[in-house]
Order: sequence, then structure tokens, then C-alpha cells
Amino acid sequence: MCGIVGIVGNVPVAPLLVDALKRLEYRGYDSAGVATIEGDHLDRRRAQGKLVNLENRLKDSPLSGTVGIGHTRWATHGVPNEVNAHPHFSENVAVVHNGIIENFRALRDELSADGYVFTSQTDTEVVAHLVSRGLKQGLGAVEAAHKAIARLEGAFALAILFKSETDLIVGARNGPPLAIGHGEDEMFLGSDAIALAPFTNRITYLEDGDWCVVTRNDVKIFDINGAPVERAMQHSVGSALLVDKGNHRHFMQKEIYEQPEVISHTLSNYADFGTCEVRGSEGLPFDFAEIDRLAISACGTAYYAGMIGKYWFERYARLPVDIDIASEFRYREMPLAKGDLAMFISQSGETADTLASLRYCREQGMHIGSVVNVRESTIARESNAIFPTLAGPEIGVASTKAFTCQLSVLASLAIAAGKARGTIDAEREHQLVRDLTEAPRFANQALKLEKQIETIAHDLARVKHVLYLGRDTNFPLAMEGALKLKEISYIHAEGYAAGELKHGPIALIDENMPVVVIAPHDRIFEKTVSNMQEVSARGGRIILITDEKGAAETSVKTEHLIVLPDMPEILTPLVYAIPVQLLAYHTAVTMGTDVDQPRNLAKSVTVE
Ligand code: AGP
Repeated sequence: MCGIVGIVGNVPVAPLLVDALKRLEYRGYDSAGVATIEGDHLDRRRAQGKLVNLENRLKDSPLSGTVGIGHTRWATHGVPNEVNAHPHFSENVAVVHNGIIENFRALRDELSADGYVFTSQTDTEVVAHLVSRGLKQGLGAVEAAHKAIARLEGAFALAILFKSETDLIVGARNGPPLAIGHGEDEMFLGSDAIALAPFTNRITYLEDGDWCVVTRNDVKIFDINGAPVERAMQHSVGSALLVDKGNHRHFMQKEIYEQPEVISHTLSNYADFGTCEVRGSEGLPFDFAEIDRLAISACGTAYYAGMIGKYWFERYARLPVDIDIASEFRYREMPLAKGDLAMFISQSGETADTLASLRYCREQGMHIGSVVNVRESTIARESNAIFPTLAGPEIGVASTKAFTCQLSVLASLAIAAGKARGTIDAEREHQLVRDLTEAPRFANQALKLEKQIETIAHDLARVKHVLYLGRDTNFPLAMEGALKLKEISYIHAEGYAAGELKHGPIALIDENMPVVVIAPHDRIFEKTVSNMQEVSARGGRIILITDEKGAAETSVKTEHLIVLPDMPEILTPLVYAIPVQLLAYHTAVTMGTDVDQPRNLAKSVTVE
């Protein structure tokens, strides 16, 4: 999603803006730009593609202003080219924007009728012209910005710069996040604390409907009616963390390798490894024993984590779970019971559809719990109970460590719910927690398979379609595997419940179709073996991910066999996620795609 940075500083800010934009690269973008006040005029440099193109522009033609705004654009309205790149200008005003202005057509018609000429295809340009018109009508800069913001409908974060104001940026938030960074005799705006990390860790997050007036030595925040509001300043933890690739080639690879540590870190937040007890549900604003149904919603990888959670909550806590893709849930007018629990899963904590679903459930009087990786995020702040994943910043667009940390939280919560509801006794609880404590060790062993998986990936990089199959908790993992492969290698892939194969997808099987089967030797292993036989009989090429027992007992011919150690059932989706991620990663590397920032994708999807 688009990234925003603004600096009211004392030295030329263009290089600083570009550095901050680099820290927002993980959100995904297709063009970038900066604008500063150059003496008596506004000036900008923009470039299609990666930030290095913008840096080259600035090298050839530097900007020297000490107040400026910058942007990485993820195209929504208009193709990703230089003309549509932000900042957008209207005479005395420059604007950068994240989100979608829903009433932009009506505003565009109104402004065109007033003589304003549009140079881009974006929705953002209306904001620049609206502010500019206010200035022409005699309003001061802040007033003109406020008046323009009040006309906007939709989701937006904005930063507005004025030619005549060398000590001012106006920001606004309605949906996508925007944070103020407090410096000494300098002030910052940014889409998140990571962008502002080199400048400050003193952060104030705007809330929906807020707009702010930022000068070198002061910050004022208002609501949409212009009444001043107080928002707490926080010391951001995330900003202190260094975001680099270490010895790894890509952030994704680094994040895959971080999993043993972050899984362990996350699990220890929810379970006592010494006594083998879950930390329980004391202190929660709801009681698992009093809840009749749990409604989970999320998007993408987080949704697949939720699907796996459903198996666990139903199995261990006998708690019925409705699991929905958030973009469907928010509109499907599902009957929900007051007092039941709604749980939202999100790495970023800013996903627009997930947030809208949360707000819908809150209006229905449900308890709101969220599994989030960013504790200061909007979803976290709007929840009654936060269940943090301790994955650290995830930069690769393809989610890896956030997924296994989400699973760690959900497994622990399912055990806690079972304990509270009396569906598992102390002995079972201790056994399950003991099992979970082994996750980091097994995750480490899974990483050792990287070399073998890299070789398999060379084969996979030559095909056009891949099918993933699994049963039980490994069915959602099959879908996650397919998502991982398609998003970074651009190979078409689908995940199916293995038992569903014969109801349609089997028609696709021939000698060109690799089928990745995720099948630990569990209660239903034999059933999956039958499905593999169906594939094999039709010439399909099987890549089997299993354990030692499964490998020993498979009679079916496989093209590749990835063998993990035997492990407790509850661990399999957590640990099997690693070979699945590595397979997608190495396929993409072999194909030479942009692994960390795949085409068309954004890390944090703050629009519908
Ligand atoms: C995963 O690899 C994706 N890039 C994407 O599906 C992601 O999981 C989804 O957009 C949800 O994001 P969130 O966890 O930040 O809410």
C-alpha cells in the first residue's frame, strides 16, 4: 500500500525522505516521489518503478528544501507511471495520499467546472485542487486544508504542503494509518513508526477522523469539526528494531529463518514452558466458558491461520467456529450473538476489510479479540483483548513468520479455551503445551531441508500450474502454500482438501501437473495415500511432504520426497509451513522475480 513521509526540518530533506520511503518499501509500490519548497516555489521529483529511479532523478537534479513530503504509490486509480506518481500539485499546494477518495468523480466534475485542469488519472489530484481553491478564496493554509478534508469521502491518509508555508505540513487520517514523529526542533509524519525510526521513537498515532497541523516545534490535532483532540504520545518499540536482511539474500528468507526464535518467543507469552500450563484466560474481558460461538475473520495468509485455528478450537475446546474472509464477512449480514467472541487476525493490524469486520461485530455487541503483530495498530487499538504475535517487523510482502506466530497464538488460545470450558483436563493440557514447546526445535530441523528444497524448486520453476493437497489442518496449509507460490513466483497454484480432488480438480492432472501433498502420518494418512494414488494413476507428479513414518509407509511413487521428523499432531501446520515457504521462496528466486516486493502486491492493504 502507499507510503507517506513528511518532514519539517532544518537541513535539505529530500535524501531523508527517500531513506524513510525505503523503510516503507515493504508495503509494496510501483512509483515514488518527493516534493519540497524551493525558495519561492514548490518542486518535485517523481519516478516510475523502484526508489533507485527516484534517487537517480534526485542525483541529476537535487532538491534543497528543508520541508517536504514523500510518497511510494501503489496504483489504484490510473496506471503506475510518472504522471500519476505523487506528490500531486495544484499551483501552491502539494499532496501525497494513501487510500481511495470515493467521491473523487463528483469533486473532479465540480473542480473542472471551476476551471481546474487535471493532469493525472488519480483520485488524489482533487485534494490538491480543493485546497488550492480554498487558498484562492482567501482562506489561510490550515483552514483551506481543513475545508478540503471535510469534503472527502472514503479512506485516506494525507500530507499537504504549501508553497508559502515553510514551517507547516497538514496531515489527515481516515482509514489508512498516519503517525506523527516528535523530534527536537523538527517534526515528522509517516505511515508507520518503522518509516520514522531513524528520526525518532516518540510517536503519536492519529485516529480515524483526525487531522493535524505539524510545525517544527509544535503539533496540534483536531477532529473533523475542527475541535482540538488529545492523542497520547508513545515510545514505539518497533522503531528501535533494525530492519535489514542480515546475511540473507531477501527479507523473506531471513524471516523464514527467524521462525524458531519468534515461535518460541510468541509461545512463551501464552504458555509456561516450565509447568506446561497455558497462561489461561484470567484477565480477559470475556470468559471462554460463557461463549457459544467464535467468529474469526481475516484476509489472505491470516485467514488461513484462522482456518487452522478453527480445527483447534473445535477439537480442543469444543467451541464452534465460523471462519470468514473479512471482505465477505463485512457485507454478508451474518446473525451474530451479543456476548459471543469475534476474533480478527492481522499481521499489520491495518487491513481495511478486517478492520471493517471488527467494527461491524462491535456494533453487534460482541467481544472483540485480535491477533496482531503490530500492537499500536488500529485493529489492536479497537479490540477489547489483544493477543500479540511476537514476530517482530515482517518486511517481505509474503507473510511467513507472522503466519507461524499466528498459529502459535491460536493453538495456545484453543488450549486455554479447552481448559476454561472443561473439555481438556490438566494432563491433556500439559501434554499439548509440552508438544508446543517442541515447535522451535522441529522448526530448526525443517530449515535444514533448504538445500534439498532448492533443488526441487528448480523443477517447479519450469511449470505453469501447481496443485497443493492436504487434509485436516494441512488443508488450509495447502491453500497457504498455493498462495505463497503464486504471490512470489507468479505460477498459478491452487490448494485443495485432498478428499475434494475427485470432485473436480482431478481433471487437471496429467504429467505436467506437479501436486504438492502435505501429509504427516496422522489419523487420516491412509486417506491421503488413496488420493495420491488417484494422482499417480493419472501420471501426476507428486512432491510429498511427510514424516519418517509416512515416508516408510508410502507405497505411491513420488517424484520428490521431503521428510520431516515425526512430531506431535498439533505441531504439523506450524512446522510443515517451513518447507512449504522454502519451496515457494526458491522457486521465485530461481525464476528471478522480486521476492520481497512481488508485482501488484502490497504489504498492508488499507483499501477495500
Ligand atoms: C500473505 O503472504 C499476503 N501477502 C496477504 O495475503 C496478507 O496475509 C493479507 O493481506 C492480510 O494482511 P494482514 O495480516 O496484515 O491483515
